[in-house]
Amino acid sequence: MADGDRTAEEEPAIVHLGDGRVVSVGLLTPADAAELGAAIENADPETLYRRFCGPPPRVTPKLLRRLTELDYERRYALVARAPDGHGVAVARYEATADPGVADVAVVVDPAWRRAGLATALVRMLAEAAVTHGFTTFTATYLADNVPVGELLDEAGGRRVIAHGIGEAVVALDP
Ligand SMILES: CC(C)(COP(=O)(O)OP(=O)(O)OC[C@H]1O[C@@H](n2cnc3c(N)ncnc32)[C@H](O)[C@@H]1OP(=O)(O)O)[C@@H](O)C(=O)NCCC(=O)NCCS
Repeated sequence: MADGDRTAEEEPAIVHLGDGRVVSVGLLTPADAAELGAAIENADPETLYRRFCGPPPRVTPKLLRRLTELDYERRYALVARAPDGHGVAVARYEATADPGVADVAVVVDPAWRRAGLATALVRMLAEAAVTHGFTTFTATYLADNVPVGELLDEAGGRRVIAHGIGEAVVALDP
């Protein structure tokens, strides 16, 4: 990525949520590793189970490096921060083996849900992904995950359910 692009993308964006609250959204970086590790360790079991579609991975330095050392082209993540600076949501995409296809994952702090934050983050991810040449997002989720099912319906996603796991394919709007 050109330095110029990177600088522009690092400028945090202010996002106004449906409930009147405001977050700033910027790139997730290695400086966020410790906070992210603590967030995973302290998150409620259901959030973790849904985010990782099963038992969460053990928080290790290697995991945190994998989650925060990104190239912002094929591996890209955004963090949303409350006005006091603490992280309240992370959304990421990772290129898959299929050309033009990236897998998406998003998690929002329970206290910040139902205000449109995941929707806004996925939209921002999609914009970045299109810039980097992606045409399609895929998402894997537990089939009984009602919020995600609804979110994907709104995004026009197609769902293929197998063995309790849903898979969605969403064409990105160029
Ligand atoms: C899924 C998740 C990211 C949604 O975050 P969010 O910020 O609350 O989502 P939004 O506010 O953008 O909601 C978008 C739409 O999803 C649907 N939705 C969200 N939460 C819902 C719920 N509890 N029940 C039913 N529908 C829900 C609604 O259609 C909603 O639109 P609306 O509020 O206008 O009706 C959040 O619930 C979460 O972090 N869950 C745990 C982790 C997870 O499941 N991640 C997905 C797999 S990677």
